[in-house]
Amino acid sequence: MSVQHDPVQRADFDQFMVPNYAPAAFVPVRGQGSRVWDQSGRELIDFTGGIAVNALGHCHPALVAALTEQANTLWHISNVFTNEPALRLAHKLVDATFAERVFFCNSGAEANEAAFKLARRVAFDRFGEDKYEIIAATNSFHGRTLFTVSVGGQPKYSDGFGPKIQGISHVPYNDLAALKAAVSAKTCAVVLEPIQGEGGVLPADQAYLEGARQLCDEHNALLIFDEVQTGMGRSGSLFAYQHYGVIPDVLSSAKSLGGGFPIGAMLTTSALAKHLAVGTHGTTYGGNPLACAVAEAVLDVVNTPQVLEGVKTKHQRFKDKLEQLGRQYDLFSEVRGLGLLLGCVLNAGWKGKAKAILDAAAVEGVMVLQASPDVVRFAPSLVVEDADIDEGLARFERALAKLTQA
Ligand SMILES: Cc1ncc(COP(=O)(O)O)c(C=O)c1O
Repeated sequence: MSVQHDPVQRADFDQFMVPNYAPAAFVPVRGQGSRVWDQSGRELIDFTGGIAVNALGHCHPALVAALTEQANTLWHISNVFTNEPALRLAHKLVDATFAERVFFCNSGAEANEAAFKLARRVAFDRFGEDKYEIIAATNSFHGRTLFTVSVGGQPKYSDGFGPKIQGISHVPYNDLAALKAAVSAKTCAVVLEPIQGEGGVLPADQAYLEGARQLCDEHNALLIFDEVQTGMGRSGSLFAYQHYGVIPDVLSSAKSLGGGFPIGAMLTTSALAKHLAVGTHGTTYGGNPLACAVAEAVLDVVNTPQVLEGVKTKHQRFKDKLEQLGRQYDLFSEVRGLGLLLGCVLNAGWKGKAKAILDAAAVEGVMVLQASPDVVRFAPSLVVEDADIDEGLARFERALAKLTQA
């Protein structure tokens, strides 16, 4: 049954919606795999993956099946009751990771909010009220709630909203000496993205994460990995901590976890989880059956050698071509990242112009992202077809050729 809708257009955004976003000039209406169609019927190749969310592309049959089956079964029941999809998903996440306990919520910010509250509560219960400081990295991004923008290392997101959450300090990323100098008996947690996503697709050094682990152990502080962007296969491992072999105490996941259906999760150990006793934390939709049914299907598909190995092979296909384009058009100083989270760092001549590049790419029929004004970011579907990679990068090349000739 198809419903007849009133016609809408991009201009309606400016008239009816809060202007906190600046969406593209075209309105996507349909997606299949790594292709998207706009209102005019124009087809684009999608290398944005909904900002590292659509891990299996658009309308993957396994996800459509899981969603429709659950839609005909049970939508919402609240946390006054538990439900089968949430229990199955929690079981599978525990089996697949260091974690023994899972808390479900609806977004990355909420997963981090839970992680930060857990860290403070654990420290309070174990060591008293003076151990509450959180150390985070400059340029990090952890979400948009007041706590998560305060922990995030980009003041442009936290300034101008009144007093920030106190007890948070920031140190330069990948600088172990700076972290060592900042950690103290008052530190309850160190929070890091294994690859800084929004900050410019900057991977952590191996020694940095290992050093952070050691410092946390020495100071009875929790190591929190924000894997909202890096998790669920994006790095080529299920979670990036598994790539590095450095095990956190708490991990936040969202984005690709739901493959496009909103869900977040905080993963931790039993010994820590017990500090969030009945009534200490919660959220109405956390563990929603629809969200958990879809996420279970995502996990079943992504956590297979076939998909995870595919991510590594596809990484190389992107990287080889992007490095060649960077040289040919004298644009990039570096192509970095892991798996299917890649960043092309603009060289001095193009610094600050990432937005111009993604606008030009969209005109040629390929959607790409920026990560800061200086980095063009690729976060496509983990199962993007090789033919789509080649065609999308050919369109990207046309955009670069036009832009550099202008
Ligand atoms: C590393 C990281 N943490 C947290 C978030 C916030 O997630 P959400 O927008 O789902 O709240 C993001 C979103 O970009 C992210 O990249």
